[in-house]
Amino acid sequence: MYAIETTNLTKKYKTLVAVDNLNLQVEKGKIFGLLGPNGAGKSTILSMLCTIINPTSGSAIVNGYDIIKDSAKVRQSIGIVFQSISVDDRLTARENLRFHSMLYDVPSGIMEGRIQEVLRLVELEDRADSLVRTFSGGMIRRLEMARGLIHHPEILFLDEPTIGLDPQTREHIWDYIKTLAEKEKLTIIMTTHYMDEADLLCDDIAIIDHGVIKVRDTPEKLKSFLVGDNILVTTNLPDKLATGLSGQDFIIEMKVSQNSLNLNVRQGSRNAPQIINIARDLHIAVDSINIDEPTLHDVFLHHTGKNIREEENDNFISMYKRARRGR
Ligand SMILES: Nc1ncnc2c1ncn2[C@@H]1O[C@H](COP(=O)(O)OP(=O)(O)OP(=O)(O)O)[C@@H](O)[C@H]1O
Ligand SMILES: [Mg+2]
Repeated sequence: MYAIETTNLTKKYKTLVAVDNLNLQVEKGKIFGLLGPNGAGKSTILSMLCTIINPTSGSAIVNGYDIIKDSAKVRQSIGIVFQSISVDDRLTARENLRFHSMLYDVPSGIMEGRIQEVLRLVELEDRADSLVRTFSGGMIRRLEMARGLIHHPEILFLDEPTIGLDPQTREHIWDYIKTLAEKEKLTIIMTTHYMDEADLLCDDIAIIDHGVIKVRDTPEKLKSFLVGDNILVTTNLPDKLATGLSGQDFIIEMKVSQNSLNLNVRQGSRNAPQIINIARDLHIAVDSINIDEPTLHDVFLHHTGKNIREEENDNFISMYKRARRGR
């Protein structure tokens, strides 16, 4: 049985298709990452799987339960740490966890023990009785995780777990996620727009854009694409050059556009002369040839046609500050 299995899962907002006929299977015990730019549909997928919103069409089975027919059972079996802040900063960490335990019907006889257990897991034992408003962003994230784990869920959903956090805190959170997956034998479904985060944590990644999965694979396989260099050849006969180059074993991929040919090749510098030779043999004039060193973002760019915007990192912090001001 899969932890998650969706069939043509779709969410529309009027004319906007936020999630488009998603067919996804995630094995139990894996850390699965949904990687995509802003507005790709990541949170919408999570919200449907967590029964927060209903799909427009299609279905999904979470932990063996149907998200529409058995939504209460789905909710009991999952933990949620979403982009918006859900802990109350006027309460202490322990009070927040008590409140959440009651919501999730954790029996009162074991509640305090559970609270201690999750506080230990996220290393917040010594701040258990401090007001959350005195916590740093990273501590709040960890408390959110403790909250999501208190009822011993089988699946933990994490929406952008480290957004807006400093590099050191991000690394801490990564350690927690890895430890959790190993110790608690949890299935973790997370979204991120950090390539490095997905790479480090996830057993499996789906790159998503406009509500559609563009590619799904292990980070290793996705990265093996990166062994190639990008070469841009400017020529008025890109089609003819592409035909002439097809079959060369150093070529991974070719894309023809107007007046240029985009190549992804193994050992770009070494093989560039061969490209020029083939063009010359075919009497194709090459105006310029540029070789680019690949970056991690190239994989993403290749599959979505856009860069992951890093400036959105500040969302979490500004959201938190707004939430505080609103009180
Ligand atoms: N309640 C809503 N009403 C209308 N449109 C919505 C609503 N919620 C989401 N959308 C739209 O659906 C699309 C997918 O949004 P979603 O929040 O799932 O993206 P995301 O991948 O999580 O983005 P981000 O990286 O910014 O968190 C976006 O175009 C968004 O504007
Ligand atoms: Mg989102």
